[in-house]
Amino acid sequence: MTQRVIYIKSNNFISPGQLETSVDWASLFGNARPIALEIGCGTGHFVVDRAQQQPDVNFVAIDIYNKGCWKTCKKTDALGLTNIRVARAEAAYLLEKAFNQTPLSAIYINCPDPWPKKRHRKRRLVNRDFLLKAWHHLTPGGDFFFSSDVSDYAHNVATLLEQNPAYRNCLDQPVVHHLPGYPISKYMQRFLDLGQPIHYLQFQRDPAKQSEIPTQSPATPRTGFRSRWARVHNE
Ligand SMILES: C[S@@+](CC[C@H](N)C(=O)[O-])C[C@H]1O[C@@H](n2cnc3c(N)ncnc32)[C@H](O)[C@@H]1O
Repeated sequence: MTQRVIYIKSNNFISPGQLETSVDWASLFGNARPIALEIGCGTGHFVVDRAQQQPDVNFVAIDIYNKGCWKTCKKTDALGLTNIRVARAEAAYLLEKAFNQTPLSAIYINCPDPWPKKRHRKRRLVNRDFLLKAWHHLTPGGDFFFSSDVSDYAHNVATLLEQNPAYRNCLDQPVVHHLPGYPISKYMQRFLDLGQPIHYLQFQRDPAKQSEIPTQSPATPRTGFRSRWARVHNE
């Protein structure tokens, strides 16, 4: 069954055409504040809270899920938030196309699709290559936040981050169950309501280790699952 695609009219929605080439984010937001990216924003609960906590940061919220983008725009518009823009885009594609000139002050990934079966784990969004790509797109000192309801996914990402000398852990432990002030996303709430913990990570592109640049090119093409999403959509 194919789902009806909702046409998104919001002024805070970035049209696909705008993302085909390098984006002038300062003119898109009307100011040159730091830019943070939420990958897989879902219905937008997290980003609207974070954007209100941090009015001096511009947030780009992306998802490949049309209805999620629509809901995120609706929340943004209803609250009159001027520091959020929403795009229906695949993460690796967007980083390559639209953020090749603009470093990010933070990257947020909350409750990414878990792919719990062992044979499906290669489909997970965050892996070693993705973390190298993210490193290239973060500003020195920029934060990489990751949260998951799946312990094994969170610990795997923490191990990969710890193995990369150009990242630094910002917390006491690689994975924690409380991150004070961190907004709760819709999926996080769902698991918290069931009495299940959320596993949080906060690492940073270490500003003291700029010489230890990972060797992998940031432009490595993404293959396999989701590669058909190598474009942005709103049709
Ligand atoms: C389990 S949901 C979590 C949504 C939200 N972050 C939350 O915590 O409520 C994962 C979301 O990530 C999106 N997603 C998965 N892979 C993606 C990718 N490569 N680029 C952008 N979004 C992606 C999915 O469409 C989905 O909306």
